[in-house]
Amino acid sequence: MNGKFISIEGIEGAGKSTQLSFIRDFLETRGKRVVVSREPGGTELGEQIRELLLAPREDGMSEDAELLLMFAARAEHIHQVIKPALERGDWVLCDRFVDATFAYQGGGRGIDRNRIETISDWTLKGLETDLTLLFDLPVAVGQSRVIKRQQEKDRFEQEKAAFFEKIRDCYLQRAEAEPQRIKCIDASRDIEAIQSQLSEILTELLST
Ligand code: TMP
Repeated sequence: MNGKFISIEGIEGAGKSTQLSFIRDFLETRGKRVVVSREPGGTELGEQIRELLLAPREDGMSEDAELLLMFAARAEHIHQVIKPALERGDWVLCDRFVDATFAYQGGGRGIDRNRIETISDWTLKGLETDLTLLFDLPVAVGQSRVIKRQQEKDRFEQEKAAFFEKIRDCYLQRAEAEPQRIKCIDASRDIEAIQSQLSEILTELLST
């Protein structure tokens, strides 16, 4: 596989969408073909699963069902989109990937990390990101940005601050454990500072 695989991660309100456009433009300007996608989603089936996962439900959803639906969507996404793109030599820029499952279902919901790892090994079969950009910011700052969007909150956005604190901690622990793959970006700074750091990280990746 010649293409490179980049994912972007962060709690709600971390500004992923804005930075995703910047990253895509940065890479395309330098001659890369970029496939932009997202999880859960990225395929017809995956987008249907996303709707099931995000819609608020009066009777809730069991943690295991949530975990397995995330991986069902991911299996389809890898098979239909990610692997073919990397094999063609395209770059894949994905809004969230498996680190989100460790953070949300592991850190947030409290599912044992070893169980997630087992399903992850089985589904990913050795696939991993070349670079994961973690947009980190305090939970309260992220939440105030979500409130300003004034859309109806999805099933995850409706969770309390404590849930997102656990997710943030888990993301930060993963970044600390894998500093080569996961780069932590302080997303509470102004956009110029963030994009200058992004440019440095991407320039380094382009040179490898
Ligand atoms: P988004 O709002 O960034 O598009 O992501 C949709 C929601 O899905 C977000 O609240 C995070 C959540 N999520 C998980 O809980 N586990 C996962 O593995 C992924 C990919 C997303």
